[in-house]
Amino acid sequence: MALENIKLDIDYVRSQFPAFKDPLSKDWSFFENAGGSYVPKNVIDKLTEFMTATKVQPYAEYPMSKIAGENMDKATELFTKMINAKNNEILIGGSTSINLYVLSNALKKFINKGDEIIVTNQDHEANISPWRRLKESGAKIIEWKFNLDNHELEISQLEKLITSKTKILAVTHCSNIVGSINNLKEICKLAHKKNIIVIGDGVSYAPHGFPNVKELDVDFYTFSLYKTYGPHLALLYGKEEILKDLPNQNHEFLNGNYPYTINPGGPNHEELVSLIGIYEYFENLYYHHYKKDNLTMVEKISKINQLISDHEEMVSNPILEYIFKREDLFLIGKNKIKNKNRAPTISFTSKKISSKKISEILVKNKIATRNDNFYAWRCLESLGIDLEDGVVRLSMTHYNSMEETKKLIKVLEKI
Ligand SMILES: Cc1ncc(COP(=O)(O)O)c(C=O)c1O
Repeated sequence: MALENIKLDIDYVRSQFPAFKDPLSKDWSFFENAGGSYVPKNVIDKLTEFMTATKVQPYAEYPMSKIAGENMDKATELFTKMINAKNNEILIGGSTSINLYVLSNALKKFINKGDEIIVTNQDHEANISPWRRLKESGAKIIEWKFNLDNHELEISQLEKLITSKTKILAVTHCSNIVGSINNLKEICKLAHKKNIIVIGDGVSYAPHGFPNVKELDVDFYTFSLYKTYGPHLALLYGKEEILKDLPNQNHEFLNGNYPYTINPGGPNHEELVSLIGIYEYFENLYYHHYKKDNLTMVEKISKINQLISDHEEMVSNPILEYIFKREDLFLIGKNKIKNKNRAPTISFTSKKISSKKISEILVKNKIATRNDNFYAWRCLESLGIDLEDGVVRLSMTHYNSMEETKKLIKVLEKI
């Protein structure tokens, strides 16, 4: 069977997200997914179920508590299956900013005076500031700057920055402004030749397809679950061989109990359990499109990722093309998605009117978006963009439809 011909069933997808039926949100075209996504019914159901009968202290022997604990463990375990990690390699925390901060604090242990840390100017600040702060521990900070002509982080440039003193490299898998997918696998290969620890920020990547962390061979990888159809939590993956050597930042008696030792406290229980709903949604998505049952979850995710990329490419390329062609608009990043080389996160400014004004017009026309620097202020600063006014960002995901694309272009034509 030619599986390649299978296309994402957008009606099925949208039917899984109650926001598309809710009186408050149903008439809006949602283009702010890089800020935070809608959640499928499965997630809401899991949250409600937990809160109804099992919102007690988990892990005791009475059934409400026992089930609460079992579901909390299950949520983490299912996520390890989706991203190809081991059970003790995943930590769920409050946000990516928190996760990266506690991680940088733990990695301090490996930093000696004069060691070098490479950060980029394309990343969200969450994957820059915690590493820059290690200056206080004696580290020298080196900046990998993106090319101002094409807005890309070039590996040839990175090669020139790596020295025998480089210890850590913090880089985004996909910028929340530029949208290009950085070749993290290649970057890790290069860095590992010099035993450099690579921290990948997958926040803008994961909503468009969960990563296979072992295939990337990245040392630490993080993404925000509230942008991958879940509640306001974030996931941090770390290779076991590094995690086990990190200091305990939690209660003293937890010594050796990695990954719980990384974070001073645990995640919100009800939100953690609702992550089971993300797994269920993706599994249902798989079975809605494919029948084959003898695949691992990583293999199923890989097939769904392809469906999602094809769909996202179809709905976002007309917008990229439209903005690119307009002489009064300045598009950041690639003007076309091809073979998943870019996420459908589209940022632009106008040479004539402010980003704020454009965003107001879009909102008036029931297109949910905003103007901002989206905390990628070093990226915007390098591009000479006003940090207050920022860019207009249109960020799509697999539940955006072709109708929404057409509506958006019609509104842009009026501006
Ligand atoms: C690329 C990227 N990295 C990191 C973050 C920070 O994530 P959090 O809000 O979970 O701290 C964001 C948030 O928008 C982001 O877009």
